[in-house]
Amino acid sequence: MATRWYLEKKREHYYKQAKKNGYRARSAFKLLQIQKKFEIIKPGDVVVDLGAAPGGWSQVAKKLVGDSGTIVGIDLLPIDPIRDVTFLKGDMTKAESLQKIKDIVDDKKADVVISDMSPDMSGNYSVDQARSIYLCQQAVKTAEALLKVGGNFICKVFAGEDLQDLRNDINKKFKMVKQFSPPASRKSSSEIFIIARFLKNSQISREKVY
Ligand SMILES: C[S@@+](CC[C@H](N)C(=O)[O-])C[C@H]1O[C@@H](n2cnc3c(N)ncnc32)[C@H](O)[C@@H]1O
Repeated sequence: MATRWYLEKKREHYYKQAKKNGYRARSAFKLLQIQKKFEIIKPGDVVVDLGAAPGGWSQVAKKLVGDSGTIVGIDLLPIDPIRDVTFLKGDMTKAESLQKIKDIVDDKKADVVISDMSPDMSGNYSVDQARSIYLCQQAVKTAEALLKVGGNFICKVFAGEDLQDLRNDINKKFKMVKQFSPPASRKSSSEIFIIARFLKNSQISREKVY
């Protein structure tokens, strides 16, 4: 009972804070808390936001990159405009959506790729968790296509089967990888965020293999 009371209070707290600060979604605080701990986004960065609707993370990212930075957000759903942010409508499981982003952000020119994509919930945890892993795998592919060497990546995923394999894959591609549960995530939530810093130079590692 006390836990439910606490969760309600916490939800209400972030809801009020989001309203007060003009954020479109409480999830904005998750990115702010990730940023506070890991300093992923810098002024002037080019940031690609996957699963961007309704735009909370893009609002935070825009403030962090400032006037000299670039934000491109994409979602299945339409997103109300934000000044100096480009929003695209697209499904990140389709190759054409990556191409839409590439029409704006040249190959290997993004500094940061962030993904808060969540599947439509079926109510069956193993189905939803498997879908979440798949969305994160798509986000990893997108990050590899768009990020500069040294670029950073954030991805939300639900804990469970195949998470370790996903982590192993990300560990191979980035120099530093951590898991983080921001305080703004519900305590009962199984979502975690993978924070991956410094994309490795795959060209160099391939040359080393041969
Ligand atoms: C939790 S919401 C994102 C909230 C957002 N970060 C914010 O702060 O406003 C998850 C989003 O992922 C999107 N999504 C799910 N699957 C997707 C896909 N295949 N391609 C693009 N977006 C997707 C959903 O439409 C949904 O808007």
